[in-house]
Amino acid sequence: MTTVNDHPFVLDAEAIAALGTDPVPIEPYISPDYCEAERDLIFKKTWTYVGRVEQLPAPGSFFVKELPLCSTSLIVIRGRDGVVRAFHNMCPHRGNKLVWDEAGQANSMVCRFHGWAFRPDGSLSVVPEQEIFPGLDLAACGLTAVATDTWEGFIFINLDPDLALGLAEFLGPLGEELGGYPFDELTTCYAWRAELKANWKACLDAFIEGYHVRFLHRRSVADAFEGSADNRYCDAYGFKLYGDHRRLSIPGSSSRTPKPGEALAFRFGRPFVSREAGGPEVPACLNPTRNPSWAFDDISLFPNLALLLFNGSYLTHEFTPVSVDQTIWEGRYYFPPARNGADRFAQEYGACLLRDTLLEDASTLEQSQSVFASGARSTMILGEQEVAVRHLHAVVEDHVQGHPKLGW
Ligand code: FES
Ligand SMILES: [Fe+2]
Repeated sequence: MTTVNDHPFVLDAEAIAALGTDPVPIEPYISPDYCEAERDLIFKKTWTYVGRVEQLPAPGSFFVKELPLCSTSLIVIRGRDGVVRAFHNMCPHRGNKLVWDEAGQANSMVCRFHGWAFRPDGSLSVVPEQEIFPGLDLAACGLTAVATDTWEGFIFINLDPDLALGLAEFLGPLGEELGGYPFDELTTCYAWRAELKANWKACLDAFIEGYHVRFLHRRSVADAFEGSADNRYCDAYGFKLYGDHRRLSIPGSSSRTPKPGEALAFRFGRPFVSREAGGPEVPACLNPTRNPSWAFDDISLFPNLALLLFNGSYLTHEFTPVSVDQTIWEGRYYFPPARNGADRFAQEYGACLLRDTLLEDASTLEQSQSVFASGARSTMILGEQEVAVRHLHAVVEDHVQGHPKLGW
């Protein structure tokens, strides 16, 4: 039995030890005041993931990102110059919500109220009956821009008008390390969305530890991730902390006995539970400890994105807080474009299996939230395998206390 602190593959033992071993408070999951502080000091201050560039394939492609905790809605749109920008979804005339569709294609965004029209770069192009607005400066009446940048095709926004840190600086060495992953080749997407009655941190917690796998996923995929014979509990390894972000590796097993449909899918492709089905060489940026039992790397980019990087596919979990006890969870599973029906079958099988696994993950979240506020306990107990959960809470607390780690 290994532990985080003596595991041969731990990279950041010192930083991890500095987090301590005390129980962590439940208050941040249930306190409206704490949630308000998170809104003001995290979600209105830091870079936040909102989507992928594949969602904006051409000039004029847009999607709307609702940010209910921050009381705003954003239009994320590709300009005629190819640049991805984000704007508050609010008409400068009388404040109407400009775009009501979730996504689409628009050469011009026209307000339904009085017909003011805006170009994809946010500039105002048309004001009906403009003469009734004497002295109106069209150039000063464009949409309100929000800082936007991309990293490896991931689109991030920052609501802070006094931006303290660029995206590259914010992502730091972790962003650089993951640069070799072929995100741009994995463009076929299967997506899920759920509105959960659970705090956003509780949702993220469920995806940054493997301790639950043997129990919560015993009916679905646990036997694919039990690791070697001496690692029956899916103990993760390779923990590394990167300022506000973190990564770890999850072990896999080749001993899973596939069901008949799964065996067929394994013959043609690489569902996420399949370690031995062949495929491309593992990108050098993955499996940093070179563990032969490696299955995937589990990365969380603060505050709202968990990235599960497999060899040949990857998964994003995006968490958007609505209130202290409500979160929108969007999962997206990316593959290379299917070359034929067999590829498609393998991908569909993998997506369905993943959906069932994610339903198991989601099953505990609302139940936990429903008793967090009972007052029965004021803390939760975290083991060494849950060090990423501990780190997330420490980072949130740093921000809420007003002393975030900025830069590297
Ligand atoms: S509120 Fe948009 S045109 Fe009047
Ligand atoms: Fe899980």
